[in-house]
Amino acid sequence: MDATHPEGIVEDSLLAGSRFVRACLRKPVDRTPVWFLRQAGRYMQEYREVRKHHTLVEICKQPDLAAEVTITAAEKLGVDAAIIFADLLLPLEPMGLDFEFQAGEGPVVHHPVRTLEDVRALRIDRADDLAYVARAIQTVAAHFRNTLGVIGFCGAPFTLASYMIEGGGSRNYIETKKLMYREPLAWALLLDKLVNVLTAYCRLQVQAGADVIQIFDSWVGSLSLTDYREYAFEISKRLVRAVQAMGVPVIYFGVETAALLGAMAATGADVIGLDWRQPLDQAWRAVGYNHAVQGNLDPITLFAPEDVIRLRVNEILRAAGGRAGHIFNLGHGIVPGTPVENVQAVVRMVHGLGTRD
Ligand code: CP3
Repeated sequence: MDATHPEGIVEDSLLAGSRFVRACLRKPVDRTPVWFLRQAGRYMQEYREVRKHHTLVEICKQPDLAAEVTITAAEKLGVDAAIIFADLLLPLEPMGLDFEFQAGEGPVVHHPVRTLEDVRALRIDRADDLAYVARAIQTVAAHFRNTLGVIGFCGAPFTLASYMIEGGGSRNYIETKKLMYREPLAWALLLDKLVNVLTAYCRLQVQAGADVIQIFDSWVGSLSLTDYREYAFEISKRLVRAVQAMGVPVIYFGVETAALLGAMAATGADVIGLDWRQPLDQAWRAVGYNHAVQGNLDPITLFAPEDVIRLRVNEILRAAGGRAGHIFNLGHGIVPGTPVENVQAVVRMVHGLGTRD
């Protein structure tokens, strides 16, 4: 029967949801929890079927469909947490910016924000329009109860501002940084408006049953440490603290952030999401052991043969060293074409090997 864990936890008794939330809070767990960034997406046949009949935004706006896609992916993979199916850019619409996803080109914002006047015109009073995301969370939370953790999410102010200003993805973030350096009033007002809307949006998600909120600052690695501190830190911290005050842990994630990890941790986020470029032990040291970490397998390693994947998974678990507060994940999202069976194999490896505290 169950063996009692030295820390007092009964092995194999934790439901996946509590295992995941406990790890976010750096409490001991019976085995390392695992989930994947972009775990619902085009690499999965079931998702492609739904996408044949609906656009991405249609799926997001129909709570039953969004919940179905979320649940199917999590159950097929056997992960410990389900991230709600939505998109980073959804809050742009109630703020007054129309966008669309163009096939093969990613998101396009039709009238990018470039001046103080543009920023002044953005609305902050319609976050309730995003209630469709909360309804999908309600369905997912009711389905899983405590058997899986339910993750809500939003973009961080810097990363969302970059889409609003550039009008889409960017390589050099020239327009974003021009506004940031040259128009301090517009920059401050834009970030302030974003945090207002994002706080209300996260509150809807938490009230609907999200156990944890992940804040995606995907493109913050384009900033130097000095510029992060000067232009993005305070506003990120405000959002992190506002969400924590709702009673849930916060995961704060970015890519190419090796130089920023200590500063990102200073926002007070419970968990820092790591990309794959730095070994996990080195990155955790930079974050500080008073935070949990999430990561950090290279998503393209999922195309490698299983023995190579196993080596990399082991390396990450060894680097985590059984310390409380490691959530296994990729260093960025699963890409189209990834073999689903390799993703499932990683779950089995982590659950089989995930070091106990
Ligand atoms: O399973 C999950 O992770 C939940 C779903 C999810 C989507 N977008 C659905 C989606 C999540 C968490 C996001 C977040 C998101 N959206 C981010 C942050 C995460 C990251 O990658 O750093 C960003 C930057 C976006 C903006 C965005 N959405 C881009 C740049 C693209 C196009 C990229 C591409 O691969 O085409 C999207 C589209 C998108 N969002 C897809 C999915 C499943 C794929 C497009 C589709 O189905 O048509």
